[in-house]
Amino acid sequence: MKCRAFVLATAALCLGFGDGVREQSLRDAAQRSGMLIGTAVRPARLSEAAYASTLAREFNMLEPEDVLKWEVVHPEQQSFDFSQGDQIIDFAARHGMKVRGHTLVWHQQNPKWLTEGKYTSGELAQILEKHIKTVVGHYRGKIFAWDVVNEAFDELQLGKLRSTIWRDQPGIGLAGDGTSYIERCFRWAHEADPQALLFYNEAGAEVVNPKSDAIYAMVRDFRQRGIPIDGVGFQMHIENLRADVASISANIKRFTALGVQVHITEMDVALPVDPSGNPRPEDLQRQADIYREVATACLSHRGCTAIQTWGFTDKYSWIGSHSKQTQGAALPFDRNYGAKPAYAALRDAMATGRR
Ligand code: G3I
Repeated sequence: MKCRAFVLATAALCLGFGDGVREQSLRDAAQRSGMLIGTAVRPARLSEAAYASTLAREFNMLEPEDVLKWEVVHPEQQSFDFSQGDQIIDFAARHGMKVRGHTLVWHQQNPKWLTEGKYTSGELAQILEKHIKTVVGHYRGKIFAWDVVNEAFDELQLGKLRSTIWRDQPGIGLAGDGTSYIERCFRWAHEADPQALLFYNEAGAEVVNPKSDAIYAMVRDFRQRGIPIDGVGFQMHIENLRADVASISANIKRFTALGVQVHITEMDVALPVDPSGNPRPEDLQRQADIYREVATACLSHRGCTAIQTWGFTDKYSWIGSHSKQTQGAALPFDRNYGAKPAYAALRDAMATGRR
């Protein structure tokens, strides 16, 4: 892509002058606005040149998409496998990027030894404490922010806690005490790395709704009682090209007013695709608008400090396999690493900065 330095709007996105002119990357734009721009990463793809070079050029933050989940990192009760997570840490260190950790406590992607182990609550509490302290301890000083607990609130009974192995099946012994089991996890993570920022991460709580109301009540309670929580992650998996941006903004506003940071942690905007995986051109423009509007909403609140996409190339995205290939094309780069309208929209929003 050539940078047309004489066109005013485009010139604002260029660095340097004369022969040295090059187009500003998303990473450059974010950096100048003091923002973190991140993406989920699959270490098996780092050996692909276009994957690695796009990643290093466009992002200043990474998050392992799957390889710090229990199933991968804790495959046997007595052994941990950090090899794939470490590859991401190494890549980030070589390219001056921050790393978010995902995730210490979830009801999915847990290994059979755990889910079928018929442990008592006391045993499960010990297993969970050891897991959190070992994983956070291994990455102490290397992972700056953790999704400590992911998706603990129910999908259908909005506002209620989900029934999980950690809460009440059989749980770690605090099932009757509301969010106490979550509180315990944050305390363990804080003990393992007092410097790490600790986040609660959730799906479907981006707008003001019963689920985000319940999370808001939990975070307010934790802050009032000094439980070490530093932030809330809103995943932002957007379907059907619908995003209530006014409500997203109001939600970010009320959470940041509690003194916690907000990170947008898993953004993608799924489009209907034909059997060859191609979206309709008009949908790409609407998708770009949504990326721009969400980024602008984040930037308008000082406490919203990071925007992360869930992968960056349509070549590798969870959406296809999880929708029987009827949806896809959800990310800022196409399958050949070409920048889509969504990329330019995100970069424009970052370049405009906070208002
Ligand atoms: O590891 C196996 C591999 O050995 C096997 O060859 C392959 C065959 O399909 O499957 C691999 O496991 C897959 C795993 O990702 C690792 O790539 C699972 O089938 C697949 O279901 C799993 O999907 C992930 C999903 O979480 C469940 O963990 C997606 O990549 C990941 O994008 C998705 O991410 C979640 C966030 O963690 C939480 N929020 C929602 C988000 C989207 O569902």
